[in-house]
Amino acid sequence: MNQANHSQEDARGVPVSSCQPESLDDYETALLQFHSYFGDPTETLAQTLENDPEFVMGHIFVASALLMMTERQYLPTIKQHIETAEALASKANARERQLTLAARQWMEGAWDLAGLTWDQVLMDHPRDAMALQLGHLTDFYRGDCFNLRDRVCRVMTGWDKTVPGYSYILGMQAFGFEECNQYDKAELVAMTALEMQRRDPWAIHALAHVYEMQGRFDEGQSMYHEREEDWAPDNGFAFHNWWHLALYHIEHEDFDAALELYDEQILPEDSDVSLQMLDASALLWRLHLQGIDVASRWHRIADLWTRKTDCENGYYAFNDLHAVIALVGSGNPEAANAVLAAVEAAARDNPGVTRMMAQDVGIATCRAIIDFGQQRYAEVIQQLLPIRTLAHRFGGSHAQRDILTQTLIESALRCDQHGLATNLISERRLHKPFTPLTQRFASRLAS
Ligand SMILES: [Fe+2]
Repeated sequence: MNQANHSQEDARGVPVSSCQPESLDDYETALLQFHSYFGDPTETLAQTLENDPEFVMGHIFVASALLMMTERQYLPTIKQHIETAEALASKANARERQLTLAARQWMEGAWDLAGLTWDQVLMDHPRDAMALQLGHLTDFYRGDCFNLRDRVCRVMTGWDKTVPGYSYILGMQAFGFEECNQYDKAELVAMTALEMQRRDPWAIHALAHVYEMQGRFDEGQSMYHEREEDWAPDNGFAFHNWWHLALYHIEHEDFDAALELYDEQILPEDSDVSLQMLDASALLWRLHLQGIDVASRWHRIADLWTRKTDCENGYYAFNDLHAVIALVGSGNPEAANAVLAAVEAAARDNPGVTRMMAQDVGIATCRAIIDFGQQRYAEVIQQLLPIRTLAHRFGGSHAQRDILTQTLIESALRCDQHGLATNLISERRLHKPFTPLTQRFASRLAS
């Protein structure tokens, strides 16, 4: 097959260095998979790279997509692809060299610098949909809500409905608006995205967050059920959307329905995907806080984390917290303390911002969960109260980090710190006025 020697463009007019025409087609397929979570872009491009081993964008894409898994286990593969892209630098164009640099920065723990480098790419190439999504996900993992919104807003002048993939950009923007508490805008933009492309689980997810934050749980349930074929079957992000649906059930105090979703959809079989396992752990913890016996489920999820902890401990504090949750839930404080020790080491030794995440948020949250497991509720409060409003620094969404507030309220109730419980419930009412769960906490306080 003849190698094309001239510069080419992707479907959005973004320059791509020389590659086989079929590789560029595969890149478009991979990008659609990345946007929609239907299919695996790394698998698609692995085949492409066998046929076209000097396809620079292929190497960059695989490395970057794997970085977004937030797992140490992928670093050897990531490193290989980054080094190959670096070795091909003389064939690459300026954009590809910057994308390679961003991937290296992320790999070395400088997630913040990677975010800036992707932004520099977007200044010259606002239609670089891959760079935009990588930056968007990094903003999420860093809890940078302003950039979740503004990084997308900054490139909007380069986009309109005639540009392929525009709806997915709107889906990202909708989530950014939601995390900045601009719920009306988020809903409008998500709806516009979904009118253009029904099968956009990220836009659906942005809408789910709006319903969650505004206490519109019935609407959220209806939306998920009516659109199920658009986000659920064979989708790599479905577990998280199922998780949101389970949260609605918890709000309705329908704990059996939440557990049913856990068993059948959120963790139907063993997984080694941290993003999925952390949702599973968080759901069980929320039920645990409400006094629900989740039985052997703790042991299974703890076992799944245990299989990974040797490799993953201390890599990303947000994941570590959820490993600790599962281990405490299963009644294994020794293993939970081992994860905590790794987080403490990460706070000393990790590179880049991952050290800050461990130091500023990871240690306190892990200690709090371990204390909760030992019924040391006053200590839980001592750990969580000072850092709760800084907790966005280790990433996640408002909805995910609500687990910290719920743990704090429950601890205040259990150790009779009524003033704190009253104030936290009052604050929660301000942000989420219509939640039955808040009312449940309030009733317990009253009794
Ligand atoms: Fe979410």
